[in-house]
Amino acid sequence: MGFLDTFRSPAMVHALAVHAPISLAFLGVPLVILAAVLKERGAGMRWLAVVAYLGLVIAAFLTVQTGEAARSALPNAAGVIDDPVWNLVHSHEGMAGKVWLFALVTALLTACTAAQNPRMRVTTGMLAVLAALATAGWIGLTGHYGGTLVYVHGLGTPALQYKQQLISQGQTPAATTPPTPAAPGRLETAPAPAPPDPAGPAAAVLPPAVVETESALPPVPVREVSYAQEVIPILREHCYGCHGKASGLNLETIDAMLVGGKKAGPSVRAGQPGKSPLIQYVTGELQPRMPQGGEPLSENDIAILRNWIATGMKDDSPG
Ligand code: HEC
Repeated sequence: MGFLDTFRSPAMVHALAVHAPISLAFLGVPLVILAAVLKERGAGMRWLAVVAYLGLVIAAFLTVQTGEAARSALPNAAGVIDDPVWNLVHSHEGMAGKVWLFALVTALLTACTAAQNPRMRVTTGMLAVLAALATAGWIGLTGHYGGTLVYVHGLGTPALQYKQQLISQGQTPAATTPPTPAAPGRLETAPAPAPPDPAGPAAAVLPPAVVETESALPPVPVREVSYAQEVIPILREHCYGCHGKASGLNLETIDAMLVGGKKAGPSVRAGQPGKSPLIQYVTGELQPRMPQGGEPLSENDIAILRNWIATGMKDDSPG
């Protein structure tokens, strides 16, 4: 991995980014203490501390963004990340999302130590020190959870990608029917002409890329996925363009998927992703691989579709 590639890995970017808020939170504590005990003479310290905590508000916000990117890059396949680990991910995210609030309160209390009234100054000074300690403690614990995810559970490391690979191979059902020869036809009633695609003919003659292996691994638990939030966006981006209401196969509703298309019948079979044409077409087990003429779906997207079918295709869409 080249040096610049480091910055293309969202997990790496996040690992680097977390240093900013952690350093600010710990450097801020002595500044606030000095600002509180030095009274008028602490003016310089005070404003330095206020600036540091306002910087922390911003750093916390930016770090959360890198964390969200790292989270979306995590493998989604069932069994790669266990439920307790997902829970830890959620606690880490929940805590990280509140860091800015701690920092803002500390900044405000520290600013209040500029008060003329000595009573006010002492009270806010003590509160500011407590807030600074709470901020550091909160960030420390957030970072500890984050560290546990990486170092104990391997999130964002190549080890996890390897596990995902093993599982996705193990889950691939053995081919029961030989793939139909690549015959790039059109859905009889497909409305819009397919966009001209440079990779078209080449993509159609590619052999199915999925290695068909007998499942040697024990069945792995599947993660519940949301139809509205995870499945629809994938289908909308990659499939609706050709498989809308007026086409030979409508993928826009679950009912329509159950009706399916002329060629392969119902596109989904609840609980049986390996026997669902929707999956067989996106993996290339059935040809032409879908989306026709386009880039194949990512392993992650396929895993989401698989899990949704495996867990009974629940409909959590609003309408
Ligand atoms: C560029 C247009 C296009 C896109 C995008 C596309 N398809 Fe297709 N799809 C077709 C055509 C054309 C056929 C008929 C192919 C054939 O049988 O030769 C088809 C057939 C199918 C079938 C079998 C239909 C039947 O008759 O039983 C399934 C299932 C399917 N597509 C799923 C998908 C999924 C899932 C996606 C998105 C990941 C997708 N398609 C994206 C054009 C497209």
